[in-house]
Amino acid sequence: MAKQLIATVLLIIATISITRAHEEEAWFRNIRGVKESLAVVHFYVQDVLGGSNPTVYEVARASITANSTTSFGQVRVLDDRMTAGPEANSATVGRLQGLITFADLETSALAMNLNFYFTSGEYNGSTLCILGRNQIMNAQREFPVVGGTGAFRFARGYALSSTYSYDVETNYGVLEYTMYVTYVNTTSASLIKSAADM
Ligand SMILES: *[C@@H]1O[C@H](CO)[C@@H](O)[C@H](O)[C@H]1NC(C)=O
Ligand SMILES: *[C@@H]1O[C@H](CO)[C@@H](O)[C@H](O)[C@H]1NC(C)=O
Ligand SMILES: *[C@@H]1O[C@H](CO)[C@@H](O)[C@H](O)[C@H]1NC(C)=O
Repeated sequence: MAKQLIATVLLIIATISITRAHEEEAWFRNIRGVKESLAVVHFYVQDVLGGSNPTVYEVARASITANSTTSFGQVRVLDDRMTAGPEANSATVGRLQGLITFADLETSALAMNLNFYFTSGEYNGSTLCILGRNQIMNAQREFPVVGGTGAFRFARGYALSSTYSYDVETNYGVLEYTMYVTYVNTTSASLIKSAADM
């Protein structure tokens, strides 16, 4: 009987603490008035490395780069077109701009800082920013989304990327990106009202 009672009390305590943990999480979010939204943004990147109109250019290289099997020390700047579909003539949805640096002495891997600048649709004028390591021979690469502007204020999340196609002859690559980001709509009325309550 006593054992049963203790078990029941313990169960109640456990239930209370679980409930409280949930309440605290809800309270934590409410007091700030912040409602996060999740966006999954999917698009392709036209990575034009060769031909008459490349969109990727070498900026600098280190003394070791020419003799490095991993191009260590080479820095490139890019302004690639982001498209809705994989085809070169697919609708432009933005531009991918930034710096990539070959930053691994042993394997082909980049240190990247990239801005995804959206130029159409509901995200027109907004940016998402990536900082991360890109081991380019991996079938799938993952990068941290570290921030954003416009519709993507307070953004954080991750991006998955893979090579959709690569033409050796023309040195033309198409990359597929899916970005999973949470963000805060700072223009929503509920956020403004909650801020006034604080
Ligand atoms: C690169 O390697 C070649 C051949 O081994 C050598 O002659 C050259 O000095 C090296 N260059 C640098 C920058 O180390
Ligand atoms: C994106 O926004 C800019 C600036 O407001 C505007 O000029 C342009 O027409 C918009 N583009 C699309 C596709 O909505
Ligand atoms: C943000 O909220 C405003 C006002 O509620 C709404 O009109 C707009 O579509 C929202 N934007 C996004 C990106 O969710």
